[in-house]
Amino acid sequence: MIGVFDSGFGGLTVHRALVRALPRHAFVYLGDNKNAPYGTRPPLDVLNLTCTGIERLFAEGCTLVIVACNTASVVALRWIQQQWLPHRARQGGVRRNVIGVVVPTIEAATGMTWGEAATGRPAEQPRTIGIFATPRTVETGVYPLEIGKRRPDIRVIQQACPDLAAAIEQGAGATEIREMVRKYADEFRRQLGTTTPDSVILGCTHYPLIAETFAEELPDIPLIRQSEATARALLSYLERHPEYGGEKSDGGKNAGQLFLSTGYAPDALPLIEKFWGGKIGFRQA
Ligand code: DGL
Repeated sequence: MIGVFDSGFGGLTVHRALVRALPRHAFVYLGDNKNAPYGTRPPLDVLNLTCTGIERLFAEGCTLVIVACNTASVVALRWIQQQWLPHRARQGGVRRNVIGVVVPTIEAATGMTWGEAATGRPAEQPRTIGIFATPRTVETGVYPLEIGKRRPDIRVIQQACPDLAAAIEQGAGATEIREMVRKYADEFRRQLGTTTPDSVILGCTHYPLIAETFAEELPDIPLIRQSEATARALLSYLERHPEYGGEKSDGGKNAGQLFLSTGYAPDALPLIEKFWGGKIGFRQA
């Protein structure tokens, strides 16, 4: 069984792509809505909450957990993988692993996997990549750092978008969202000066929901789709590590899927439908 964790409903954009890529696998989604948004929380909070969420998904029987939240991935994932997971990875004789959304996104943005980076492939396009993300994600600098490991020649321009994920999560209207995106796009252009970026990463799982607004405010700049990149990475990961795929569902529509939330108001239902593209029922985690 594959677990997908996010601070709220934004991870459903990734989850949807994963389910499409692996329609016969059983999935459990967990949104920590009670504690969302993570993007403005202290790092230690994000770390503790992410560990608790993963623990919950392991308890549900998941052998592989995708942290479908940029904030949680950049703040907590490395520590979780190196320090926290080894004690839990084989409890009860079951192998477990946790992966995130950052590396797949960077691979999509740079066109390079780790293997290719190691062979020192000559530099080629792209030269400048933009990233729009939560303040916490920007503050960690993980995207520029990880991109730099593969392609030190790439200039990475980060744009923090305070309150944007929260506004989306709270169902803010189109005009309010457009004003926010316009403001952040203007700040981004000021940082760019005369440079034109080759692409822009929407580095928050909430942003695909307003990708059209981003596309309109950043005309002619390709947007990197994190959900598809993560789905491609998961397929390739499971080919190499079939032991983490877990049991398969019966192949029926949405079969073998469970949606858990630590707490949300019923008026969030239209928002869930938007993120998921249809009706789903959440259970209290
Ligand atoms: N889903 C989170 C992310 O991808 C954003 C929402 C939050 O701040 O909790 O960064």
